[in-house]
Amino acid sequence: MTEQKTILKALAGETQAIPPIWMMRQAGRYLPEYKATRAQAGDFLSLCYNSDLATEVTLQPIRRYGFDAAILFADILLVPQALGADLWFVTGEGPRLSTITDQAGVDALRPVEDIHETLNPIYQTVRNLASALPRETTLIGFAGAPWTVATYMIAGRGTPDQGPAHMLKDTNPAAFDALMARITAATIEYLSAQIEAGAECVKLFDSWAGSLKGADFDRYAIEPAREIIAALKTRHPETPIIAFPREGGDKYIGFAKATGADCVALDNSVSPQWAAENVQIDGCVQGNLASSHMVTGGEALARETRAIVQAFSNGPHIFNLGHGITPDANPDNVQHMIDVVRGG
Ligand code: CP3
Repeated sequence: MTEQKTILKALAGETQAIPPIWMMRQAGRYLPEYKATRAQAGDFLSLCYNSDLATEVTLQPIRRYGFDAAILFADILLVPQALGADLWFVTGEGPRLSTITDQAGVDALRPVEDIHETLNPIYQTVRNLASALPRETTLIGFAGAPWTVATYMIAGRGTPDQGPAHMLKDTNPAAFDALMARITAATIEYLSAQIEAGAECVKLFDSWAGSLKGADFDRYAIEPAREIIAALKTRHPETPIIAFPREGGDKYIGFAKATGADCVALDNSVSPQWAAENVQIDGCVQGNLASSHMVTGGEALARETRAIVQAFSNGPHIFNLGHGITPDANPDNVQHMIDVVRGG
């Protein structure tokens, strides 16, 4: 029998002396080899839909650092595009989409069963990776959570406070709920297809969960995650699921139990000591080093990394950043972090 992979052991609830490690946005612009392949592809979306080049950039950080997991190279905004939204990226600014402001906008979206037409190249990337990765490396698939995806579909761009999405939710709840239902159904099909193509774990990114307050958090962060996880567990009971309700604060408490997630990913606004006592008591956690350390490095990086490993050492833990690594990060600092996690 082959030894189970370290990431899958953590997700199954095992405490390990050295936590497995990977990094959000580990394939990205801080790496010269990523920039070279992206230039070859032409632009970011062409890179996402080119299975050979997307496979290549997914593998780059595995070759350079030997992370315990590879995350599929794609983007959470491919689902809106597959549902019929226009999507483009403005250099130096970020994503732009056509906007949805009412029920007619929701009705004009393509049916969920048609999303695979657009997303087939992504499943091909997953198949490529399933055969190309080293045997000890876990392949993670992902999608955006419905609230976060809806914020982009409604505003047509990233927004500091998700104002347009809150506005539609509060003024036209029927249209907002219809949009959430469409995204939820599409996400189930998308993640299910990734698992069928070879993803061994999937992660749900709710990057803007922190702007949902009180009952809104239960209704639009917990409930869609619970629904997606329940559907996936019915179809693929063996596949673990990581949920990332970013900036959830106190709402991290009980999130795994409420949604059925196998692991909760933590941003760095919560202290590891607090999270060990309040979140890790329910199972595996992932996180949560501030990504700014990948820019600044030095003794503070080593100290914080050790403190996180120590705080989570009595339970299942996957070491990661609290959010994605930024383009101004120094690749040497990533190696330093890995050396501290693995070697003390
Ligand atoms: O983690 C990984 O390495 C896997 C690939 C991945 C990307 N985006 C690649 C990417 C994942 C998991 C995402 C998720 C994603 N995309 C989220 C949720 C996580 C988070 O960061 O909060 C969100 C909100 C998006 C939407 C998105 N995509 C934005 C806002 C941007 C522009 C911001 C920026 O950094 O320029 C992107 C572009 C994007 N997605 C890049 C990468 C590597 C940079 C594109 C480039 O190469 O120019």
